[in-house]
Amino acid sequence: MNSVLVASNRGPVSFTVSDDGVLTMKRGGGGLVSGLSGVAGDDGVLWVCAALSDGDRGAVRQAPGGRLDHAGYATGAVRMLDIPPATFHRAYNAVANSTLWFVNHLLYDIPNAPLFGTRFRREWDSYRDYNGAFALALAEEAVHGARVMVQDYHLTLTPAMLRAERPDLRIAHFSHTPWAPPEYFSLLPDEVGREVLEGILGADHAGFLTERWARAFIDCCAALLKADISGNQVTYDGHTTRIGVHSLGVDGDALTARAGEPDVESHMTALRDQVGDRKLIVRIDRTELSKNIVRGLAAYREFLAAHPEWHGRVVHLAFAYPSRHDLPEYREYTAAVLRCAKEIEDEYATEDWDPLILNVDDDYPRSLAAYRMADVLLVNPIRDGMNLVAKEGPILSPHCALVLSREAGAAAELGADALVVNPYDVCETADALHAALVMPDDERRSRAARLAAAATALPPQQWLAAQLDALRPTS
Ligand code: G6P
Repeated sequence: MNSVLVASNRGPVSFTVSDDGVLTMKRGGGGLVSGLSGVAGDDGVLWVCAALSDGDRGAVRQAPGGRLDHAGYATGAVRMLDIPPATFHRAYNAVANSTLWFVNHLLYDIPNAPLFGTRFRREWDSYRDYNGAFALALAEEAVHGARVMVQDYHLTLTPAMLRAERPDLRIAHFSHTPWAPPEYFSLLPDEVGREVLEGILGADHAGFLTERWARAFIDCCAALLKADISGNQVTYDGHTTRIGVHSLGVDGDALTARAGEPDVESHMTALRDQVGDRKLIVRIDRTELSKNIVRGLAAYREFLAAHPEWHGRVVHLAFAYPSRHDLPEYREYTAAVLRCAKEIEDEYATEDWDPLILNVDDDYPRSLAAYRMADVLLVNPIRDGMNLVAKEGPILSPHCALVLSREAGAAAELGADALVVNPYDVCETADALHAALVMPDDERRSRAARLAAAATALPPQQWLAAQLDALRPTS
């Protein structure tokens, strides 16, 4: 039995299975997993996650009680849930990624979507089952009075379900995404919107990355549930949830150490060979609708059109890594990114100047190399919970100027020293790229130093500790 439990859809490891049935384990990716990895492996901590793939299911089925550590894997205590694939698919792809993610990032093409019919109701039932499977596993594993930290939009219903089962537990929920304002959140069917809010309000503490997302959540509770709001507390149905803001930052020392390793150095040499002594504008993203890559490329194109004096003197390195290819919108978006890149190439490339290098295959050491070399870092999401790229860049490149969307959570902490843009305005973004390129060296260095200090203010270990502290009984 465990005194601290973490629950998230994606766990700390994932498995692939080869044709001859051999399982290979690798570390899970993404901001959420790196944020939480700090506690994995500590005594008394159990991580509950879902099997995401056939490889994961293969591993779980050989693990007693789903405990990967009991099957001999060096994961720390991890229980992986083997949720039936059809249920998982509906909960993860249809509800979490195609609905809740879209709502909270304001991604719908409103005249055409969403459309909530009978099919959605079935998908919602699966989401409820999937959340129920987590609540059940947590209820089974937790000692009396244990602290449970439930993560993200995949698991909005779990806190209330768990509280009903185990009122003795102290429960937290953390949203790694933005939160939608009530007018947009109300696109959800009324009963679904209410269930999401009531689900999270089952927790004693609901955490967000910025004041803005926390405020939006509180506004939704007031508008849809008529909950009682007092400062940072929401009381509903006789239970009070404290709302907290924890701005996840970066472990600067660990990142700098990793970026100094030989594989990164050799990528730097290769990139330098490719771009020569030209200035570098870098972006690094998953190919994710909210990241606004197409408008980023359009802004670069506007910049090239307005500033012929930079032709031949600048290169845009755009890394757009594969993401969520099970969803058609993401496949179409990837195609749009490639199309836009080709148009820039066709219009501006010359025999000895490649204005844009677009890479769509994931390569972490190459990303670190690009960070270190960046003169300008472009981070222009439509909306983003935090955006750790904006925080990592200035840590690794002391001469990097940051062009940052005002809609990224990171803008709350980094806005003063970044060039802040409206992500829909590609002319403004193009002007900011230019201003970033011509920024005097001493100014860019002093801004980057302040950005790096802000980016490391709350590293993952402390971020996590603050949330665990918030779960200690107050009286
Ligand atoms: C990003 C978001 C997290 C989310 C994760 C899911 O990292 O910031 O909020 O949990 O994506 O990604 P996945 O690849 O697991 O669907």
